This record gives sequence, structure tokens and C-alpha cells, in this order.
Amino acid sequence: MRPVILAIESSCDETSASVIRNGKVLNNIIASQAVHQIYGGVVPELASRAHQQNIVAVVQQALDTAHVQRTELDAIAFTRGPGLMGALLVGVSFAKGMAMALNIPLIEINHMQAHVLAHFIDDPKPSFPFLCLTVSGGHTQIVLVKDYLTMEVIGQTQDDAVGEAFDKAAKIMGLPYPGGPLIDKYSQTGDAKAFKFSETIMPGLDFSFSGIKTAFLYFIRDEKKKDTSFVEKNLHNICASLQSHLINMLLTRVEQASRQTGIKQIAIAGGVSANSGLRKQLKALGEKNNWSIYIPAFEYCTDNAAMIAMAAHFKFLQKDFCALDVAPLARMPINVS
Ligand code: KG4
Ligand code: ZN
Repeated sequence: MRPVILAIESSCDETSASVIRNGKVLNNIIASQAVHQIYGGVVPELASRAHQQNIVAVVQQALDTAHVQRTELDAIAFTRGPGLMGALLVGVSFAKGMAMALNIPLIEINHMQAHVLAHFIDDPKPSFPFLCLTVSGGHTQIVLVKDYLTMEVIGQTQDDAVGEAFDKAAKIMGLPYPGGPLIDKYSQTGDAKAFKFSETIMPGLDFSFSGIKTAFLYFIRDEKKKDTSFVEKNLHNICASLQSHLINMLLTRVEQASRQTGIKQIAIAGGVSANSGLRKQLKALGEKNNWSIYIPAFEYCTDNAAMIAMAAHFKFLQKDFCALDVAPLARMPINVS
């Protein structure tokens, strides 16, 4: 039953390892870095130090719980980019060392392709072509997925990512990092129509989230001038209104992309795809438009090595290996693999 691949993810603030055997993901070990919480965002230097501390134990746990010996491995896969350079370097160096020691091939993975390929871990799996809205702390993209490894970004943010808008808004309200999941939680008992926010309309299928961040900052500042406990008194309604606004910005473009391409298979991926409001509204829109909707399990939404392992499986089948002198790429377009 081949191939058996060990995959490593270290692009941001999760150190993760996963073993995949013949296309079946055996586990998904994740060490999250709590060290960033007090800073209200990921501190790159601390992220790379924490990866360095965690990676040996995380990889060992992945091998142990999969009951796989190092000598059984056919390849080592790692996230080449995009991501934080210092964080990527830890995973890349570790993967190179292991591939050299075991004398097995090395597979480089594009993190954004892997978010999309998380849809092939469990059933139901989309068929090609499909559209994937990839939404995370660093990216907001509409991807036209033509094949496992052939993808084209047809719309994307021209400034901040939607996850960043969630996290910055949470920070403005005094919530801890990462604020996205908290905004999601408080929204569930809030009135989405309580407050209105303006939107920057971009041409084509592109997005812009920097304007809403600034507008939100001024909104909270002005309301607090009138009532210092405005946020505490209205937290749930503010969260619900902001979340609904961000979701509408995303889904308007997805609907437009589906109309333009004629594609009715719609998937979501990335950390923000864990958002319960986005999942619910996407399902409703799917029913209205007769779409087939694909939503990954929660553990495969935020950063994880299982998605890296899934992508590595498809590359292994094509014998798409990389040289040992490969370097990480902080910026890595989705079609470069
Ligand atoms: O994909 P990911 O783990 O890392 C990046 O590649 O960025 O995404 C992290 C982002 C953060 O901005 C976090 O706040 C957001 O995903 N996030 C959420 C939720 N869960 C995670 N945003 C809104 N609602 C959620 N439930
Ligand atoms: Zn990610």
C-alpha cells in the first residue's frame, strides 16, 4: 500500500505533521502557538522559535500514532510558501534533513493549493472544474480549480485578507487574538441588522477589506465618545452586523464568479471557512442557485498538515519531486508549484 508520505506544515503559527498512506490521511497532529495571544497577532520571530521547539515532538507523534517507521516512508513533503519566512525555514530545513537521512524524495507544497486540496481528504469530493473561495488570515481568493494541481486565481483581495479584517475588528473591540472565532461566537446571539457598514467595491471579482477596517475603527471610536461602555453593551449586535457585512462581501463575488464561469460546484477553504455564519449563508445561497456546496471539516479549515499530505499524494503520483537545495518562498503564486 504505497505511497506513505510524511507532511510538515509550518507557514504561520501552527506546527503540524501528518502521515498519509495511499491517499488516506492517517492523522493530523497540530501544535498551536499560544505565545502570540498577548501581542494581538502573530510575531514572526516567536513563531519560528516555537516551530523549532515543537517540530521534533509533532513529527514523532505523527509517526507513532500512524504506526509508521521512518524506514517505511516514501517521501517527505513540506510547505514551501506562502508564509512567514522564518517559520517556513524551520519546516523546510527539517524536511530536507529527513529526506537526506532517509535518502527519499522531497515534495514541495504550495500552502494555498493545499487549502483547496483539503476537499479531497473526506467525502463528498468535488469534481473538476469547481470554484473555491479560499479565506484565511493572509488570503482572500476565488480559485478556479481545473485539476488537482492546476488552479487559477480569478479574484482576490487587493489589500487585507478577510481573516485580518475579523482579527483587527476584534482587536479594536478589545478581544484577544485570533478574534475571528470570537466574533463568530458572539454573532450567534446578535442582531445582524443593528449596525450598517460601508463597502469599497472593487472591479471584477476582486475584494478590498482595508476600508472596512478603518471605518470600523472610527465607528467604535465615535460611539465610545458618546458612551464609554458602547462595546460591552452592544458586543453581540456589533459582531453580528460586522460578520454579516463581511460574509455578504464574500458571497456577492462568489455568486458573480459562478455566473461568469457557469460553474455550480462551490467550495470554501481556509481558516475563515470555519465561520458558522459563512457556512450557513453559503448553504442557503447554494439552495437558491442550485449549487453543490463543499465545506471541509473544521480541523481541515485552519492550517494543518493533513492538507499538505493530501497535496503531496497527488504530486507523488506525478513524480513531482523537488531538489534538495529548494528555498522557501514567502510569496508563492498558486500556479507556481
Ligand atoms: O488558514 P488559517 O489558519 O491561517 C492562515 O493561513 O492565515 O486562518 C486563520 C484565520 C484567522 O484570521 C482567524 O481569525 C480566522 O482564520 N478564523 C475565523 C474563524 N476561525 C478561524 N474567522 C471567522 N470565524 C471563525 N470561526
Ligand atoms: Zn492557511
